[in-house]
Amino acid sequence: MHPSVWREFWVIVTIVAGGLLLGLILGRPFLGAAAGLILYIGANLRQLHLLHRWLLNRRRGEEVPEAEGLWGDVFKEIRKLVRQSGQREDRLTGMIERFQSAAAVMPDAVVIMAQHGEIEWANSAARRLLGIHFPRDAGMRLSNLLRDPDFTRYYQGGDYSEPFEMPSPSNLDVTLQVQVIPFGASQKLILARDVTRVVQLEQMRRTFVANASHELRTPLTVLSGYLETLHGMEAELPESLRQHFATMHEQATRMQRLVNDLLTLSRLETAPRTREEPVDVPALLAGLREQAELLSAGNHAITLEAQPDLSLLGSRDELHSAFSNLVNNAVRHTAKGGAIRLRWVADREGAKFSVEDTGEGIAPEHIPHLTERFYRVDTARSRASGGTGLGLSIVKHVLLRHDAELRIASELGQGSVFTCVFPGSRVIRAEIPARATPA
Ligand SMILES: Nc1ncnc2c1ncn2[C@@H]1O[C@H](COP(=O)(O)OP(=O)(O)OP(=O)(O)O)[C@@H](O)[C@H]1O
Ligand SMILES: [Mg+2]
Repeated sequence: MHPSVWREFWVIVTIVAGGLLLGLILGRPFLGAAAGLILYIGANLRQLHLLHRWLLNRRRGEEVPEAEGLWGDVFKEIRKLVRQSGQREDRLTGMIERFQSAAAVMPDAVVIMAQHGEIEWANSAARRLLGIHFPRDAGMRLSNLLRDPDFTRYYQGGDYSEPFEMPSPSNLDVTLQVQVIPFGASQKLILARDVTRVVQLEQMRRTFVANASHELRTPLTVLSGYLETLHGMEAELPESLRQHFATMHEQATRMQRLVNDLLTLSRLETAPRTREEPVDVPALLAGLREQAELLSAGNHAITLEAQPDLSLLGSRDELHSAFSNLVNNAVRHTAKGGAIRLRWVADREGAKFSVEDTGEGIAPEHIPHLTERFYRVDTARSRASGGTGLGLSIVKHVLLRHDAELRIASELGQGSVFTCVFPGSRVIRAEIPARATPA
């Protein structure tokens, strides 16, 4: 037992013994003992009353009462707890104040949304960028202040893995990148930053590439035309120049391919989505297979398996460009005698076009980079075979515009599978007049 409890025990024994002794002297021993006990209970009730009063009034800053003995110990412990919780509160308040003063001067807008979707706090940048004034707008719903319908859809959709770009409601020339971060019990932190400069630079880059490619096209066509003519007059050329002209012709053709690919890429990046139409993919693939046969010149076994009633909503030209890039790659990167299998099928995920080859394969470290512009595993070989390194970039952009995804599986020395996965929303199950699918 704790010494204080022991002491209290001896206090009770002493009081009762004292009462008993006094009662003995007066001839009423039990009455004396009872009086002693009543005195003890009374003293305890007083301390209990003091504690109760303190508990009721502690918010007004009343001090914990003082006492002796066991009650004194209890009050001392309560005093310690009060002091500790005060210190903790001070620390937390300090932290919140420091956080708020840091967030308040941040150049990005910060808005804290409470559990039920109302504004709890916002910094001063939120006024400039989002038009949210704090404390005036505290308790308001966000949809009453940010009325961009696309943003409302994004905010209510609940998928915040990608940030959202929109014009600032207070200045339409400013582009904002908004990020929503859920935290705590369904609270949300909204961050908005001014990305106008980045968007402008990106726009400038796109325009520059588009203009440069466009400007290069005409002089190149002229040069190529002359070189073509000279190529036709090979017999009349002196022997020493023949090889030079052949190289010039080859390089000019390569440059034309590069410029055309760059133009295609800029168009894919900048042009609004073209009017979408149902594309008869099996027919498109039958044509591509024939082209592949020509390119392969009988060196590969090329097969096509296509679900005849499976069409796709999209742009025919863009899909043709993407699919032909994948098919040409398979032919160019598969050695003589290899097999190339084209498949167009539907499954639970949607519709899939895959090109499988038994070619050289790609080492795993290269796979994540293949869709970057000008990325080539073996630069010298790709150049020699006429590759520009833009093909898979084009594929990626076309697929992006069709809400589709490119999956690459490959094993070095074994072969590769490039699969385009289109969402079910783009699939059209149309009965197309019976056509023999080449196998
Ligand atoms: N089927 C494949 N098998 C092996 N490697 C491949 C295959 N497809 C692509 N690659 C690798 O990926 C690189 C990038 O392909 P991409 O199509 O972007 O460029 P490219 O074929 O070199 O040029 P082009 O712009 O003319 O298509 C290629 O250089 C090649 O190394
Ligand atoms: Mg290619």
